[in-house]
Amino acid sequence: MTISYADDGFIHGHAAGTALLIDARGPGVPAVVHWGGDLGGNIDADAIVSAGLPPRARGALAVHTPVSLLPERARGYRGRPGLTGHRDGADWSASFRLDRVAATGPDSVEIAAEDPGAGLQLRCELRFEASGVLTLRHVLRNAGTASYTLMELSCVLPVPRQAVELLDFTGRWSRERHPQRSAFDFGSRVRENRRGRTGHDAAFVLAAGTTGFGFRSGEVWAAHLGWSGDSTMFAERAPDGRAVVGGAELLGPGEVVLGPGEEYTTPWLYAAHSRRGLDGISSAFHSWLRARPQHPSRPRPVTLNTWEAVYFDHDLERLTRLADTAAQIGVERFVLDDGWFRHRRDDTAGLGDWYVDEGVWPKGLHPLIDHVVARGMEFGLWFEPEMINPDSDLYRAHPDWLLQTGGRMPPAWRNQQVLDLANPDAYAYLLERIDALLSEYDIAYIKWDHNRDLMEAGHEGQPAVHRQTLAVYRLLDELRSRHPRVEIESCSSGGARVDLGILQRTDRVWASDTNDALERQSIQRWTGLLLPPELIGAHIGPPTSHTTGRTHTLSFRAATALFCHFGMEWDIASAAQEDLDGLQSIIGFYKQLRGLLHHGEVVRGDHPDPAAWVHGVVAADRSQALFAYVQLATSVTEVPGPAALPGLDDDRRYRVQAVHPAGEPSGHSMAPPWMADGGIVLTGRELEAVGLQMPVLDPENVLLLLVTPIGK
Ligand code: DGJ
Repeated sequence: MTISYADDGFIHGHAAGTALLIDARGPGVPAVVHWGGDLGGNIDADAIVSAGLPPRARGALAVHTPVSLLPERARGYRGRPGLTGHRDGADWSASFRLDRVAATGPDSVEIAAEDPGAGLQLRCELRFEASGVLTLRHVLRNAGTASYTLMELSCVLPVPRQAVELLDFTGRWSRERHPQRSAFDFGSRVRENRRGRTGHDAAFVLAAGTTGFGFRSGEVWAAHLGWSGDSTMFAERAPDGRAVVGGAELLGPGEVVLGPGEEYTTPWLYAAHSRRGLDGISSAFHSWLRARPQHPSRPRPVTLNTWEAVYFDHDLERLTRLADTAAQIGVERFVLDDGWFRHRRDDTAGLGDWYVDEGVWPKGLHPLIDHVVARGMEFGLWFEPEMINPDSDLYRAHPDWLLQTGGRMPPAWRNQQVLDLANPDAYAYLLERIDALLSEYDIAYIKWDHNRDLMEAGHEGQPAVHRQTLAVYRLLDELRSRHPRVEIESCSSGGARVDLGILQRTDRVWASDTNDALERQSIQRWTGLLLPPELIGAHIGPPTSHTTGRTHTLSFRAATALFCHFGMEWDIASAAQEDLDGLQSIIGFYKQLRGLLHHGEVVRGDHPDPAAWVHGVVAADRSQALFAYVQLATSVTEVPGPAALPGLDDDRRYRVQAVHPAGEPSGHSMAPPWMADGGIVLTGRELEAVGLQMPVLDPENVLLLLVTPIGK
């Protein structure tokens, strides 16, 4: 049991070294007294509350106001209220009275509260699972007789005062999840997303931590909102020094109006605490994700995606040659990207016409799929279900199926508009089309794309991102229940839909449209703060990147993609034999190590040289590890110096060896003696505390280090 509601009136939680103490004695909504380091087994909750009672400040509120799970003006909360809404200007400040607290399972409790005067009922659902991840959501019910207009219902958690720095993310197409650090000052830091999708620039994970927190050091509290529509993430510090982090769905004007008896449910807020830096945060999120019953459990197949290989040039002969080459080198899944359906010869037309194009594919997709399957590979197919080109049969037949308002076409974006999935006919059409294709063809995988922001997204004149997001979730859920063996990738102009809402019904994300290995180092490193590597799609692109024009060696491209759900996106049918040999050996290496890479614990060193990074994966039983020393740019120092290899068993002795596909030491330097000797044996403690001298690598190179134990 990780959480319980005890006789002392408190909710006690304990998981993965994190303790949770919530004062549920009433009369208001319970308040988090402690969410942080372990408190041991014998807790005197009353004494902890007393210890936290502040002196009365001069010129301030006369009463102490604990920060409840739903902060309220009525109890003196001066920050962003948990609930904002009204009934035609009335009932705008609720004051909930605690009704009931009940354990709903070994790791969950439910809290019910009511404000009879305002005609509102609240249910807070709280889970605290073995991973240490705390999940929270609220359900608001209109118990009154008139409609209630909801403006915001947020999930909030207090963080202690020692959390003085913030980390969150921004980005753009091909540069997703770029970290930004700031001081956790007084006032609010608010990240609003009005893109109608998660967004390239999503806040992603909002982390608050102690001074200078890093991957392996500092105490950190982090939150993520599992939602793929508009959202708000915030960190707020009040004048009394107390601070919270929180998140909410961002609702449009009049978007959610609850009729009598109707309910609104917030997205889940996923939160984690760590006393060992950001690695502890990812470790909690990864364990939580891996414990889900639907988490992909079979080895992640080596994938070839056709996009950067052929783009819209869908020619059976060319694609079968590509499939032949793929099968020869060990590819296990062949994914046909954009361009296979009616009228889709480029990106100006066809979206919505989900019928195999009879001109390009006179015998349907059967000849290609049969060919792929006969060579032992699975077949995957690209869709962009929510989109419609004005130049399509679908639009010509149903121009009213667009999300829009004011009779205007929303601003253009890649020649496409968005289908209104709250329209039951549009929804039924999509469900029928995708279901029919999945039923007719042997399709094991869908790449589900979404290539524009939603703008002026209206349904029958009202803002509709909320309904659209729920409809997409419903559509995915329905397709999954009809075709449970089909895996789905969440793609959105690369990585603009990476969140735990979509990931509850998909099996991996396409982290970015850039296959440039240097860019990918950063994108994957930070996407990995939330997602374990097996959920992150990473492909070897052609030698010269299509998005940046940079040229990289095969070893750098391979050692970068290797750690995630690995594949390629390259016209390998025209690649040099030397490259094919290299690819074949890398694929073999991936197959040998994917068990470790996709089940182990992700670790990252706080390497002192900004020109180089260290990351790795350590087996859960510490019996093996693979590390990457990544030379991003040239270093200022003459030699790189030692790199720490963290996360191994302190007292165990390990052999460390450089392995291929690895960057060769630069022509300017000898390898360090331990490398010239073919490896070295050290304990886990020595590898973390002393580290190992690294060779001088030319920039944009990776050295891979395989770590295996000596003896038992
Ligand atoms: C955007 C995706 O991110 C790409 O990988 C590719 O599928 C294109 N769309 C196809 O239009």
